[in-house]
Amino acid sequence: MDWGMKNRLSKIIKPNDGRCVMLAVDHGYFLGPTERLEIPEKTIRPLLQHADSLMLTRGVLRTSVNPSTDVPMVLRVSGGTSIVGEDLSNETITVSIEDAIKLNASCLALSVFVGSKYEHQTLANLAKLVDEGERYGIPVLAVTAVGKEMVRDARYLGLACRVAAELGAHLIKTYYCRNFEKVVEGCPVPVIIAGGKKLPTEKEVFELTFNALRDGACGVDMGRNIWQSEFPISMIKTIKAMVHENFTVKEAMDLFQKEKKTERDGFIQAIKKAKNTKRI
Ligand code: 5RP
Repeated sequence: MDWGMKNRLSKIIKPNDGRCVMLAVDHGYFLGPTERLEIPEKTIRPLLQHADSLMLTRGVLRTSVNPSTDVPMVLRVSGGTSIVGEDLSNETITVSIEDAIKLNASCLALSVFVGSKYEHQTLANLAKLVDEGERYGIPVLAVTAVGKEMVRDARYLGLACRVAAELGAHLIKTYYCRNFEKVVEGCPVPVIIAGGKKLPTEKEVFELTFNALRDGACGVDMGRNIWQSEFPISMIKTIKAMVHENFTVKEAMDLFQKEKKTERDGFIQAIKKAKNTKRI
């Protein structure tokens, strides 16, 4: 592996503990203005400093992130479908390698749809992207997207992760499942878990994170369970403590309660300030 590739990977997965907290805000690429991500800049601004990296599309990167940031960007470069279209798996590569370099992407992300109608196309997209990434020293994160007809179990996810790794993906993002350790065991590159739809309670998010790390995940690429929370800053800070400081679920709950109070106080202060400013 060349120096540039290693250097970029070390920005995504922290070399001191081999772990990562990636904040996912790429949902609009097929879902449109997702709840609480309607104005990406507003969602991203308070959370960015707490993330190890940010996963997003070039449209949101250009319009909604201050270029002076030192947080590395994981650029989604697959898409071309939408939730109202015919088949979500019919994805193509949507960003040229030149534009990804211009945008200073630290990693490229692309979805593969194993078992879908467009399996071959999306796997061929991955192989092509890995070739381009290898040419310029940019790692590729393969996202194992799961169609409605597929079961999210260790057999299926293990197969999807392994196929993506065999095609050269440097990192894989997948879903947590029962017997997740089997998925990790059969995958020769680091595995990150997606958060998935917002869970009913914070405790469930912390349990998901704890179990995934215990079973071998190197971190999270989490979106909705952070920014759809009533307390997004407290959420990301707590997830970070779990990933990098091995907090248990109990410790996470305690930290979240503490952070929640600080976040609420800050919010009240901001409202008061805004009211006073209006009076003047
Ligand atoms: C969508 C994605 C998302 O980035 C991924 O699912 C993570 O976000 P969330 O935690 O909200 O599931 O790749 O295809």
